[in-house]
Amino acid sequence: MGSTDADPTDANDPLAWARDHAPVLGEFVAADRERRPFDGYTVAVASHLEASTGVFIETLHEAGAAVLFAPSEPESTHGEVVRELDRREGVEAFAREGMTDEEFADAQHSLLEREPDLICDDGCELIAKVHADHPEVARVVVGGCEQTTAGIHRLEAMDDDGVLAFPVYGVNDTPMKRLFDDVHGTGESSLANVMITTNATIAGKTVVVAGYGHCGRGIARKARALGAHTVVTEVDPRKALQAHVDGHRVATMAEAAPEGDLFVTGTGNRDVIREEHVREMADGATLANSGHFDVEIALPDLERMAERTSTPTAGVTRYHLPDGRRIDLLAEGRLVNLTGPYSQGHPIEVMDTTFGAIYAAARDLLDADLAAGLYSVPDRLDRLVAERKLDALGLSVDELTAAQAEYYDDWEHADSSF
Ligand code: NAI
Repeated sequence: MGSTDADPTDANDPLAWARDHAPVLGEFVAADRERRPFDGYTVAVASHLEASTGVFIETLHEAGAAVLFAPSEPESTHGEVVRELDRREGVEAFAREGMTDEEFADAQHSLLEREPDLICDDGCELIAKVHADHPEVARVVVGGCEQTTAGIHRLEAMDDDGVLAFPVYGVNDTPMKRLFDDVHGTGESSLANVMITTNATIAGKTVVVAGYGHCGRGIARKARALGAHTVVTEVDPRKALQAHVDGHRVATMAEAAPEGDLFVTGTGNRDVIREEHVREMADGATLANSGHFDVEIALPDLERMAERTSTPTAGVTRYHLPDGRRIDLLAEGRLVNLTGPYSQGHPIEVMDTTFGAIYAAARDLLDADLAAGLYSVPDRLDRLVAERKLDALGLSVDELTAAQAEYYDDWEHADSSF
């Protein structure tokens, strides 16, 4: 057996492990390192600043872009990743670990004052601010990409109001993002961080999942696979039915509140767990949020109800209610998979395809010549990312035969024997 010493090139490189597990971005680097499609463009990136985002920023930079980056959440920044990127010429950080909410907003504004050409956004953080506070910059932005549902909601509202000043690709809504990142990435990383923070089992517990969209479906499915009794709450009757036929119990939050051991919100909405629910919860109930903003669990309600708080272990805020019950909130109600003390965000393999889709969309925007507005990512780009991922996995798909392609195109099915 050879030496098991760490590769000396990896030892000081906080991106090395992520890079090794990001074959899709690696393929883009290999294809575009010489071509440098982003030469002369400044790309702004707002995202959770962990290693896989670092590999994405590195990919843009290798393809010729000057990159300015800022966090999309003040608590999810990994300092060693920021320092590693910031020392590269042509890459500049507007971020550091442990920013206050005010510093976080100031950093995003400072970034926007540098007049980026493209914006790769998360939660519509930069795109909303550039329109609200830097309209002269918005007028010269070539285009943007959005990676999460919360950002799409804001962009749809902006598009409806006719205020969007440039074209934006809704990368969040691609099949590659929806089928893998949201379901598997959020599902696995949320529960992994609940388990590692609490050092408690999921097996045998009653886990209440609020919201049965892409994220909630992943969380509920993975919780059940770990042996939990799962309860889903919804406001959309179709999603509730889907949860029912998928084998979860459907209930209102008022019904579920007294039963749950662990509550995980993933709705993109506010006050999903609030005072009337907390009043009914058992001693020791644990609350976590996977939605983008820290508004899904009504923190002001918890603060008003509690006579004091404590920190029984890192990443847990315990609310002591006057009747003796204790309610444990993880990661201060922020994204549990990204902002807790042990959080690393989504698995790298998942972020590789999501960032691959954002990269392909951003590159396309340079030549797409689109009017201002919110657009779906062209299907050919999503397929390209899927093909690259399949290649990396050593898997192949069949090709349509000429007769099959013709059959799809023939609305009369004239030669059908039926
Ligand atoms: P989605 O739109 O697919 O699903 C949300 C579901 O919540 C919908 O079915 C909706 O009917 C339901 N809902 C809305 N209000 C509700 C309420 N009061 N009670 C119960 N259900 C309610 O959205 P998706 O993609 O699942 O995203 C959810 C949130 O998670 C968003 O904020 C998104 O930005 C965020 N997100 C977080 C990630 C992470 O890493 N933690 C990754 C991807 C998305």
